[in-house]
Amino acid sequence: MLEHDVLVIGAGLAGMRAAIAAKAGGANTAIISKVHPVRSHSNAAQGGINAALTDRGDNWEDHAYDTVKGSDFLGDQDAIEVMCRQAGRSLIDMEHMGVTFNRDDEGHLGTRAFGGQRRARTFFVGDFTGQALLHVMFEQLIKSGVRRYEEWFVTSLIQEQGRVCGVVALEIRTGQLQAIRAKTLIFCTGGLGRVFEPSTNALIVTGDGMALAYNAGARLMDMEMVQYHPTTLAGSGVLISEAARGEGAHLLDKNGERFMKKYAPNMMELASRDVVSRAEQTEINAGNGINGCVLLDCRHLGEKLIKEKLSQIREIGIDLAGADMIREPIPIRPGMHYIMGGIKTDVDGLTNLPGVYAAGECACVSVHGGNRLGANSLLDTIVFGERSGNHAAAVSKQMEFIEFDGDAAVKREEQRIQGILNRPQNGDRVAKVRLAMGQSMNRNLAVFRKQEGIEETIQELQELKTRYAQAPVDDKGRVFNTDLVFALELGFMLDCAETIAVSALERKDSRGAQFRTDYPKRDDENWLKHISVRKGEVGPEVSYMPVTFTKWKPEERKY
Ligand code: FUM
Repeated sequence: MLEHDVLVIGAGLAGMRAAIAAKAGGANTAIISKVHPVRSHSNAAQGGINAALTDRGDNWEDHAYDTVKGSDFLGDQDAIEVMCRQAGRSLIDMEHMGVTFNRDDEGHLGTRAFGGQRRARTFFVGDFTGQALLHVMFEQLIKSGVRRYEEWFVTSLIQEQGRVCGVVALEIRTGQLQAIRAKTLIFCTGGLGRVFEPSTNALIVTGDGMALAYNAGARLMDMEMVQYHPTTLAGSGVLISEAARGEGAHLLDKNGERFMKKYAPNMMELASRDVVSRAEQTEINAGNGINGCVLLDCRHLGEKLIKEKLSQIREIGIDLAGADMIREPIPIRPGMHYIMGGIKTDVDGLTNLPGVYAAGECACVSVHGGNRLGANSLLDTIVFGERSGNHAAAVSKQMEFIEFDGDAAVKREEQRIQGILNRPQNGDRVAKVRLAMGQSMNRNLAVFRKQEGIEETIQELQELKTRYAQAPVDDKGRVFNTDLVFALELGFMLDCAETIAVSALERKDSRGAQFRTDYPKRDDENWLKHISVRKGEVGPEVSYMPVTFTKWKPEERKY
């Protein structure tokens, strides 16, 4: 049987960083990913990566305070301190690995301003920073000699003696299922963006790791905290990077007014994302938008800057909205972008399941709390990917493999999958169920939420689960059966969707990305706590966890 000390699931930035660290720590390490590593969604992170460099007059405590405030005081401050202290070193590591960050006129690493931060500490490569980091990290992965299972999809976990001790995975190219034994597992499977429609996320972002871990008994935390990015393109919902506002773009209503002056007079368009998205939605709902959008105006930035620093989003505007930002404002609106919640971990990535780690968007360390600052996500992947890899390598040295019957595990999974392939052809197609789920989530769990809407979605999700259990798979073949993969993904998505809706219903205050129109105030007395869910007999079971404070007391949040 295939076996590894450390098996990393997911090969985006967090996964590759974890695998490189685990290998360097002396562990027999493998990485498994349903897509080729450079097709991972980290690719799509555009605007940059935050770090406070002391030789630039910045300091990690200022970065940490901005992150705490951005989180609406729900982030765990011990974890935020760890991330912000390590940021400078991680950034320079990436530069030394070969990332060609933009430079300023003096030849130093250049920065741009990003939302919710009092100084410009976002390092960037044009408007495709994630892609640049991802490709460099892939080179390092190859160099490290980590075993790669590319285009293998983990369909289930194997548990023996109360521990997760392996996985069953589908080799997509051949359709064969294989068991892989592992002493430790690190989930780096990214977010769940496509649980919402539309979303800025790639179609592959389907919450697989969160659902696998949840079904194995892991705790998910802060799942109600879903980030709507302020600038997603009209129609397609494709991301238009915050880099545009970082370079000085304005948001305008239908009369050409910079409406942010009403909501965040100091920071204007560079308030935190939750504040800007709410402001936009308020204006749109009041009839001050155009066709359900407001406008992002970059004209005053000039052709030279746009071509040098915002070339990708300019092309997206031309190709997908027929608007060239050099000459005209482009229509944008808030759109689902990121989940702050995820598999609850400590600062070394350990979950409540022994030997199981998580890092990156699928994890909740929790450094983002109620609202993530732009460009803290790339940072999170690298810092906590590395820490998880280090820890898992050290722990697996002290462990033995747990024996299990791999053939029996594969046979069980074969039967389950055959059951899906054998479904009669008369049910609703997977795509139809997926779209209904995404639209329901976007209707009732978006920027503004209220009890009746959330309850409606919870009810719809139950019905969709029934329809999903009957959804046929047309392709009965083995080789590259993406029809089957989509069906398996939808099962994971429905589980994730339910945890979001149940957590949102539970939280009866407005904080960060969760704005309840029926509880419009932040209520620190009763709700300054994390909502945590674990899988129960009939759905998610809710409990609470305390927020960790170090130096920053909760205060009113103004930008
Ligand atoms: O707008 C952006 O470039 C997105 C960055 C992020 O989510 O960190």
